[in-house]
Amino acid sequence: MIEDILDALPEPALVVAGGRVRTSNEPARNILGPDIDGQDVRLAIRHPAAVERLLTANPQGPEEAELVGLGEAERRWTMSVAPLADGALFVRLSDRSEAHAAEQMRVDFVANASHELRTPLATLVGYAETLREQKAELDDPTRERFTIIVHDEARRMQRLVEDLISLSRIEAERFSTPRDALDLAHLVRDAAGGCRGLADERGSEVRLEIEPDLPPIVGDFGQILQLVDNLVTNALRYGRRGTPVRVGLGQERDMVHLTVADQGEGIPPEHIPRITERFYRVDPSRSRSLGGTGLGLSIVKHIVERHRGRLRFESEVGKGTIVHVLLPVAGAASS
Ligand SMILES: Nc1ncnc2c1ncn2[C@@H]1O[C@H](COP(=O)(O)OP(=O)(O)O)[C@@H](O)[C@H]1O
Ligand SMILES: [Mg+2]
Repeated sequence: MIEDILDALPEPALVVAGGRVRTSNEPARNILGPDIDGQDVRLAIRHPAAVERLLTANPQGPEEAELVGLGEAERRWTMSVAPLADGALFVRLSDRSEAHAAEQMRVDFVANASHELRTPLATLVGYAETLREQKAELDDPTRERFTIIVHDEARRMQRLVEDLISLSRIEAERFSTPRDALDLAHLVRDAAGGCRGLADERGSEVRLEIEPDLPPIVGDFGQILQLVDNLVTNALRYGRRGTPVRVGLGQERDMVHLTVADQGEGIPPEHIPRITERFYRVDPSRSRSLGGTGLGLSIVKHIVERHRGRLRFESEVGKGTIVHVLLPVAGAASS
């Protein structure tokens, strides 16, 4: 029976005949209303495009229609219609909200990335033109200053492009499991060494607190190094000058627990859920002036996901931030 088929479908489905709902399943009644059986389709589905499609005897055009705001206002559905033997119409609604949100994110990302690239590029072009056209009028110190600006802006663009490339590589590798057995203690020492320049600049020290005899994890060396580097860089940048950054490594059951702690401004709680979004910054001008691209934590998030790990932010405004990363120990990750 058609009712049995309808009830077996997880998505909203109904049968329409002669402009009325003949029968429907529970998901359909959940979004269209409990009393739609027997109702005029114009009342049951308050969506003009969909109704028109269902009332036209021999519709021209596509078999599918996009419906916005059926049930909850933000949801999007694809309605597909198939005629049954007796001339009734079998109508199915598939939820496209998630696919639509993902598509929207992609569109926003391209727009944001272009905007982020355009700003340093405009500065570059402006200063390069001045340097060329007013060669005679500029004194040496001014020319030197302009050259430094050109260089800094070019470096900023380079960092941004490098982060964009990293992000797309990590995303492309999302479904391939990393293979190297990694000694995190060794890797963390490497990463801390790589941050020495920035640490000196900030008058800060990176202190390592590493438990002995940690088991190896399975990971991608380059990516985990990048993860630690991004977290330590943030801690040094957003920590108060002259205060230490602590990097801890310990074991917690079948995970290795990495912490990066700073004493700094902290992150207001309402921002925490969003700081791993691409280009999201608590204070955009401050991030830019410190040389940030706004992509560091979203790279971290993707790396943690690829390694089937966990990421958590613990922060107190005015005191500081501790970032926790849990990564599965080699051999335990097979689940
Ligand atoms: N340790 C930290 N302390 C305070 N704020 C932080 C810290 N780490 C990250 N943030 C906030 O999260 C934002 C996003 O970080 P990230 O993705 O690394 O981008 P970027 O550092 O390039 O701005 C930063 O702009 C900053 O506002
Ligand atoms: Mg950063």
